[in-house]
Amino acid sequence: MTQKFRRTHHCGELSENQVDQTVTLCGWIHTRRDHGGLIFIDLWDKNGLTQVVLNPQIDQLAHQEAQTLRNNFVIAVTGKVRARPEDMVNPKLATGKIEVYVDELEILNKSQTPPFQGWDDQEVSEALRLKHRYLDLRNARLLRNLTLRDQITRTARKILHEQNFTEVETPILTKSTPEGARDYLVPSRLNPEKFYALPQSPQLFKQILMVAGMDRYFQIVKCFRDEDLRQDRQPEFSQIDMEMSFVDEEELFGLVERMMAAIYKETLGITIETPFPILKYQDAMNRFGCDKPDLRFDLEIVDLADTVTGTEFKVFADVLKNGGQIRALNAKKSGEVLSRKALDDMTELAKTYGAKGMAWIKVNADGLQSPITKFFKPDMLDAMMKKMDAEVGDTIVFIADAPKVVADSLAHLRLDIARRLNLIDGKKICLAWVTEFPLLEYDEEQKRYVAMHHPFTAPMAEELDKMESDPGSLKARAYDLVLNGNEIGGGSIRIHQSEIQQKMFKLLGINKEEAEAKFGFLLEALQYGAPPHGGIAFGLDRIAMILTGSASIREVIAFPKTQKATCLMTEAPSEVDKKQLKELKLKFDLS
Ligand code: AMO
Ligand code: AMP
Repeated sequence: MTQKFRRTHHCGELSENQVDQTVTLCGWIHTRRDHGGLIFIDLWDKNGLTQVVLNPQIDQLAHQEAQTLRNNFVIAVTGKVRARPEDMVNPKLATGKIEVYVDELEILNKSQTPPFQGWDDQEVSEALRLKHRYLDLRNARLLRNLTLRDQITRTARKILHEQNFTEVETPILTKSTPEGARDYLVPSRLNPEKFYALPQSPQLFKQILMVAGMDRYFQIVKCFRDEDLRQDRQPEFSQIDMEMSFVDEEELFGLVERMMAAIYKETLGITIETPFPILKYQDAMNRFGCDKPDLRFDLEIVDLADTVTGTEFKVFADVLKNGGQIRALNAKKSGEVLSRKALDDMTELAKTYGAKGMAWIKVNADGLQSPITKFFKPDMLDAMMKKMDAEVGDTIVFIADAPKVVADSLAHLRLDIARRLNLIDGKKICLAWVTEFPLLEYDEEQKRYVAMHHPFTAPMAEELDKMESDPGSLKARAYDLVLNGNEIGGGSIRIHQSEIQQKMFKLLGINKEEAEAKFGFLLEALQYGAPPHGGIAFGLDRIAMILTGSASIREVIAFPKTQKATCLMTEAPSEVDKKQLKELKLKFDLS
């Protein structure tokens, strides 16, 4: 059956300009009010709401049928646009000055009473929202998020195309790429007992495109990582992925800065400052305790090792003896806000990052208040207070431990203090590059080095001779882009010479056979004229999450997965037919 009427306008479009015109609207019944004979309907589509008025006495529609209309029914109405009487104007609604008097109405579909009204901002559990995502997605907030996400990808595509990038699709059924997470595997029916891996990123394909001479590649691409999920992680997520030949850090940074500036301008109308500041990894660690610092507020970590050398306070003395660190933060003007209870909670927070305790000193008008001042001689205490720039009203918190514990605890305490003291200006946008990462990290469990970024990242050129003699000290030509304390992108200049790539695998404890089996195609491709190249990938979902001000990445993905990597709507993953398993020659040991 074809629809009787063809839509002339959408539900957010009509104004006084159309008064007296006959229009046809299609949409969902958002609300319905009976007023003694007259029925008022707010008709909804994603563009807005229009009030339509039914008079069952005069309309062709039988009175009876008008009574059957319920919320969420899909209808088409044709009628005349009328100006609302002065006292009926709704200034909150874009279409609030008019209404449509219905001549004809067609019910296009009925609806059951839904478990919740997606339009309303009512308290509904996220599980129910995800199960009925089609209702949830009617919410203006989610529609706005998806629209903004679309603006981001559109802008990125436009800028990259203008800069001579070509979008190239790379395979989804592929071989494992080491980005540090577990792979999702897909069994091959035609090759029993063999598996494809879903790509954790298109890393190797984009490098091989450079060998091919593609020069500038990009792709807005799904990546798959089987890792523990958090608010800013999904098992499948999207990257704005790019790679360039004959490029150095400076050129790449400039290009990315232009892209980010265009994204902010197009989506939020905001002009951001470029170039972005560059922060060396080691400085970021020393000053903020992490490699993705939130730079919207100061509150920097201070190293007190020199100041407290020789202390009789056993906790600090022992840590120093064992090669640990003593570092502190000064929560300025924290006075009453950092109460005993708050300090206890902060101690518990520090303990979740491995700290054994958190010492503190409050600078009150009548002197210092603290459980540890009694362990210090006055001149050392003075020196500590001076180094911390302590003034009345301040609270100093100290962590003494191994460097990693000190960094992790203080990084999180820094954020915690910022929240408690309201130091974060929500309007600020702080983008920064973090560079000069170590090339390798020593993995205590595996007793070997692992790549901090990935194994294809080039070491600093001037340090190449240290690959054998002192690999632990090597720095990488890697960079991350950090936005308000979130890592939104990461990349590197790559190794483009086969011998160096082989050396790198050796450093990582990957022997020749294994390297050949896993990455033989790359090592081979590098031998056929690989140009110097580098690139970066951005977490599209994370960028969208921050630009929309969402608390979770799930708010910017149409059909996201839960923390357990399930889809509540389709109920994936699910069991499959025995026949399918047989075809795939998969057997489960059910013992
Ligand atoms: P990397 O692993 O740093 O680099 O990933 C790039 C960016 O992708 C985002 N991201 C994620 N977003 C949501 N959920 C996840 N599970 C997730 N994992 C990563 C982050 C991150 O900064 N091939 C390299 C890039 C390169 O070297 O060019 C890569 O994938 O925002
Ligand atoms: P104690 O002598 O163990 O009672 O500790 C005295 C103070 O030092 C308490 O406030 C503890 O929370 C704090 N403290 C204990 N261990 C550490 C540590 N590793 N770093 C910082 N402060 C600590």
